[in-house]
Amino acid sequence: MTEPLSEPFTIGVEAYISAEYARAERDKLWARVWQQAGRVEEIPKVGDYLTYEIMDDSFIVVRTGPEEIRAYYNVCSHRGRRLVDTPPGARDARGHGRQFVCGFHGWRYNLGGENTHIPEREDWPCGLTGESTRLKEVKTGTWGGWIWLTMDPDAGPLRDYLEPAATLLGPFQLENMRYRWRRWLVFDCNWKVALEAFMETYHVPYTHPEFIKFGAFLGWARNQGRHSNIGYDAPKGMEENQAKLRIGSGADARVSTRELQDFTWENANTNTTQTLVEAARRLVAELPEGTPPDQVLRHWLDSARADDAARGVHWPAVPPELQARSGTAWQIFPNFQIGHALNNMLCYSARPYGYDPDKCVFEAAVYELYPPGQEPRTEWVHTPQDDPGWRTVLPQDFANMAAVQKGMKARGFSGPRPNPYRERSVVSLHHNLARYMGTGAPRELS
Ligand code: FES
Ligand SMILES: [Fe+2]
Repeated sequence: MTEPLSEPFTIGVEAYISAEYARAERDKLWARVWQQAGRVEEIPKVGDYLTYEIMDDSFIVVRTGPEEIRAYYNVCSHRGRRLVDTPPGARDARGHGRQFVCGFHGWRYNLGGENTHIPEREDWPCGLTGESTRLKEVKTGTWGGWIWLTMDPDAGPLRDYLEPAATLLGPFQLENMRYRWRRWLVFDCNWKVALEAFMETYHVPYTHPEFIKFGAFLGWARNQGRHSNIGYDAPKGMEENQAKLRIGSGADARVSTRELQDFTWENANTNTTQTLVEAARRLVAELPEGTPPDQVLRHWLDSARADDAARGVHWPAVPPELQARSGTAWQIFPNFQIGHALNNMLCYSARPYGYDPDKCVFEAAVYELYPPGQEPRTEWVHTPQDDPGWRTVLPQDFANMAAVQKGMKARGFSGPRPNPYRERSVVSLHHNLARYMGTGAPRELS
């Protein structure tokens, strides 16, 4: 069977650079999709809340019960003041309380969203009802440890929306992972340019040339309905090596795996953990010279798994066949990427920056499994592009962002033509965007 969207396609530039298109996204796209708004563990106690913003809309996501999270439009029903302010320079607001009090005229709301106090209410002889003065609620759901919301009152269940990603990622138990670090910044490019830089492996040898030394980093991309996923190409018998935890493919896999792990740990601080790095450093001592690569992979993962188990960190058991099919990352439509592995993950998201098609808010977060109670306290740290906090690998990707956005506008450019095998995820995104936007469907190249 031919994979969907496997023909060569080209995409118009409108979705990236048109101010009109960016404006239309507000109602046609963002108001109709499920969006990831934060982690469940960020609001553990009843009354804990965080805010999430997308274009003109802001939401208060609040824990209303031990097992209940709700989200409200972050706007006072009196004269429309934002109810909870985001501190200057911060990504969002965080807090804890039993009620929300508007700073303008003192209207109050309880955690259930009901208006509980209106100063001088007797001045309104009629017209103020519980319904008209309450906070307007949106649908929420949880999956993978994230809180999701949608502005669409007619949206179907979150789980249905996330399929087949939800089923294929289920065994990875992503809900057990906790942040190791999280950073955000504003890029001078459209949100799609930012995400598309991470949803393919075609760029790896050229944007990140130092990785060539450790082996081949080229892979496939598949359309998965509304979503897409990517993984590495792997030779027969090494299917598991399509997953994120993979060995180096130099002449001696023991050495190249150690080098790859050391390099990644130092220069990206993503896609691996201290346990995996240390287990890789022991490979030469623990395995004889000439050990075949598949056995190096098995030994490395088994010993890292055992080391973690000894400190109370239990990796999920995911059949190799499922690891191979799930690949290295899922692009959850429209703007969230989950780069999963057995004991860690790297996730990206990008959102519009107001109505400006040339800017976006970009976020990167690394998670891992921690012994219970030992997860670090983290915050969203604003980290400009040239800040050493990003190390060296991610800035290589960042360097393409504004340059692509500029190039898209050139009279000499007639639209992207993604690699039909390695960059099918890009075509998949625009194929799905067009279903919401009513414009911009990829066209066959031939
Ligand atoms: S706008 Fe909130 S109390 Fe007036
Ligand atoms: Fe990259």
